[in-house]
Amino acid sequence: MWSRNITFSNGEVSLAGIPATQLAKEFGTPTFFLDEDAFRSRAISWRDGLVKEFGDKAGHVFYASKAFTCTAVAHWISEIGIGIDVSTGGELAVALAGGVDPSMIEVHGNNKSLSEIDRAVSIGVQTIVMDSLYEIDRVAEAARKHGKRQQVLIRLTPGIEAHTHESISTAHEDVKFGFSIASGAAWTAVEKIAQLPELELRGVHCHIGSQIFGTEAFEIAADRLLEFMARYRDAFGAELPELDLGGGYGIAYLENEKTVEPSDVLPTIGKAVRAACAKFSLSMPTVSIEPGRNIVGPTMFTLYEVGTVKDVVIEDGSIRKYISVDGGMSDNARTALYDAEYFACIAQRSSVSPSVKSRVVGKHCETGDIIIRDIQLPSDVVPGDLIATPATGAYGRSMASNYNHVPRPPVVAVIDGKARVIVRRETEADLLALDVAKM
Ligand code: LLP
Repeated sequence: MWSRNITFSNGEVSLAGIPATQLAKEFGTPTFFLDEDAFRSRAISWRDGLVKEFGDKAGHVFYASKAFTCTAVAHWISEIGIGIDVSTGGELAVALAGGVDPSMIEVHGNNKSLSEIDRAVSIGVQTIVMDSLYEIDRVAEAARKHGKRQQVLIRLTPGIEAHTHESISTAHEDVKFGFSIASGAAWTAVEKIAQLPELELRGVHCHIGSQIFGTEAFEIAADRLLEFMARYRDAFGAELPELDLGGGYGIAYLENEKTVEPSDVLPTIGKAVRAACAKFSLSMPTVSIEPGRNIVGPTMFTLYEVGTVKDVVIEDGSIRKYISVDGGMSDNARTALYDAEYFACIAQRSSVSPSVKSRVVGKHCETGDIIIRDIQLPSDVVPGDLIATPATGAYGRSMASNYNHVPRPPVVAVIDGKARVIVRRETEADLLALDVAKM
């Protein structure tokens, strides 16, 4: 249900045939283990799914690298032949280090710095997604300086309440991203771009939110964006050729959940786009998408070692077992930030002990340092046990911090029974290296 090469059941967690005990022995804990084969096949199935649905109108799958990126991953992306979405100079640097061709890079961000814009334009990225009126001037200025005409999209806010956590829902009106269609801001942006010969407006973009199931929000978004494209056609006498519907496809975090697959959503999105084109008498634009979580999320798990276990009597008089592992909110901030839910199991042995009310917590100095708030785990969990949490690939390592000066965990990729470090573990020396003054 998470990744086909990873087995998660009480007592036998293994990745591509390598048991958790061996992985822990060789690489230590906590560590993110990545199923490279699953990553590649998920990226390929989005690539092929887009082509299957849209044929010669398939734009690009831009992997949203904020979910997780490193040089090796960027390299796989370029090998697979999909594009990459970067939203900072740092993500751009990693994409370039991994050998991604600038023509496959799309640049996002609601506050791109002047140097980020300058670099993106000068290396010839494919598209820059416009997010504010200031930015339109800044990108035009950079294009003028480099003697280029830059292709741009406008990020639209179509006014949709996606059913997901507020912090990761992005297309209702009261957000920092994009230009509102309803308020007229989006149209002001279009008119501004039209006056700048250095910019070529290729189309419109939206990203309605993250961890989304079902297709309704995408269908409404497609309809509103194409209505906007029709308005453009009516005003300017030419059609915009590109539509980018962003990412957001949900994944399974718990045992009873199901990860969205390309074939679950792309046919409905295709149908909605075609219906809207017919409704507004538009020709079919190319369609691009930006899945991040859906590609990498299911392909990683985190392996921790239990350090202490404590039975705590809680309000209703019952006992909750607090299981402290050697990581925490510094490698998984999602529970603290979004009340995210995860599954966990003992990774190196089976247990026949009854399950008890448990909470998996980290080693940080705050009560909110919780990885799993409520879970039933065997009553005999003891220090030294290994605990695996699946589906930590997206926004786990990428949002990791050094809180309490805890070095960030490594990422180990496993394929064909072979494991190799692709991001090494941080050391105390790495952390101290930043302290350049002794007093
Ligand atoms: N495109 C744009 C413009 C985005 O802003 C995002 C995510 C994506 C694509 C990819 O979305 P995905 O397919 O991964 O859902 N830290 C949060 C998620 C923040 C998402 C931000 N933007 C979390 O851990 O849930």
